[in-house]
Amino acid sequence: MVFRSPPTIIYGKGTVTSVGEQAARFGKRAVLVCGKGSLRKSGVLDIIVSSLEKAGVSCAVYDRVGSDPTTSDVDKGAAFAKENGCDVIVAAGGGSPLDAAKGIGMLLTNGGKVTDYEKTAPEKESLPIIAIPTTAGTGSEATRYSVITDTDRNIKMLLSTDGIIPKVAILDFAITKSLPPFMTAATGMDALTHAIESYINVNASPMTKMYSLEAIRLISKSLIPAVLDGRNEQAREDMLLAALYAGIAICSTPTALVHSMSRPLGAWFHIPHGLANAMLLSTVMEYNRPSCPEKFRDIAIAMGENVEGLSVREASIAAVEAIAAIADETGLPKLLSSQGVTEDKIPTLAKDAFAAGSTANNPRVPTVEEIETIYKSIF
Ligand SMILES: [Fe+2]
Repeated sequence: MVFRSPPTIIYGKGTVTSVGEQAARFGKRAVLVCGKGSLRKSGVLDIIVSSLEKAGVSCAVYDRVGSDPTTSDVDKGAAFAKENGCDVIVAAGGGSPLDAAKGIGMLLTNGGKVTDYEKTAPEKESLPIIAIPTTAGTGSEATRYSVITDTDRNIKMLLSTDGIIPKVAILDFAITKSLPPFMTAATGMDALTHAIESYINVNASPMTKMYSLEAIRLISKSLIPAVLDGRNEQAREDMLLAALYAGIAICSTPTALVHSMSRPLGAWFHIPHGLANAMLLSTVMEYNRPSCPEKFRDIAIAMGENVEGLSVREASIAAVEAIAAIADETGLPKLLSSQGVTEDKIPTLAKDAFAAGSTANNPRVPTVEEIETIYKSIF
C-alpha cells in the first residue's frame, strides 16, 4: 500500500497570509492561478498578492480559469507563466483553478501540450504548487489528480501523477465563508463522495480508511449547518478539514464508480461535478452495498446512525438511507432530466463512464448495462 499527502499543510483561520513566506521557499516570481472573478471580489486575491510582495515574491495573475478548466485554459496558462518567468505556482479558488494549476505546473517543467499527458506520465515533477482552496469539496489541494475538459472530444481527461501533488496546502476556513449555499452543498457532497468511495475502494488501506471515516463523520455533522448558515465557523472549519481528509484518502485509493459516472455528465451536459456526484451517490452505494456490507455498517456509525441491535445487513441499509437523507437535506436537484440530460444519451454516458477507468476500483465491478440502469433510475 502507498500513502501520499502534501508535505506541508498549514491550517487555521487567517493562515492565507502565510502564502508569501511559503512561496519564498520555492521561488521569486509566482504565477497566481485563479478563477474569473470571485477571488478578486472577495478580497482574497489582494491578501495573497500583498503577502507575496511582503515576502519578496512578485506575482503575475492568470485569472482566466473557468469552471471545469479546459485544455486551452491550461495550455494558455503555461504559456503565460513561461512568458512571465514564473518559478512557483500559487493556486487559489475551487477545484477548477487548483486542477488547472497542476496542468500548468506539469507543462512548465515537461513542455508540450496538456493532451500529450493523457496517457503518458510526465517525466519531471511539476513546478512547486501552493494550493489554497476556497471551497470545501474537491480536496485537490491534497491529490495527485487534475481533471481537465477536452472540449474537442467532450471528455474529461484525468491526469494522475505524484509530481502534481501540491508542495503546500493552506487551509483557511475564513475564506470559505462567502461560498453560497448551492456551492457549499455541491462541493460538500463531492467531499462526501470522495470519503465514501475511498472507504469502500478495493485499494483502501488502514491509513486511508482512517481519513475517510473522519471525513464522513465531519461532513455528516457539518454539511447541512454550513449550507443553512454560511457564517457558522465551526461548520466551515469541519467541512474544510473533511474535504482535505477525503482528498488525502482518494490521493492513495483513487475514486470509484460514482466519479466514473459523474465525469461524462460534466463533459456532455456541464452538470457541476459536486451536483453530479450528489445525484448519483446513494443509488451507486445501494448497488455497491451487498458487496461490502461491513464497510457500510462502519459508514452508518460514522454518520451518527444508531446501529445497536441491527444486523450487518440492516446497518448497511441504514448507511445508504443516511446518504440519501443528507443529499435530500442539501436541497440539491435529484434527477438528471432536471439538468438537461436526454434519455437517448444514456447509452453514450454509460459507455464513457465504463471507459473512464475508475470502475476497477469499485468493490463491485459493473457492466455497461448496469451503469445504464443506474443512470436510468435517477433520470
Ligand atoms: Fe470529486
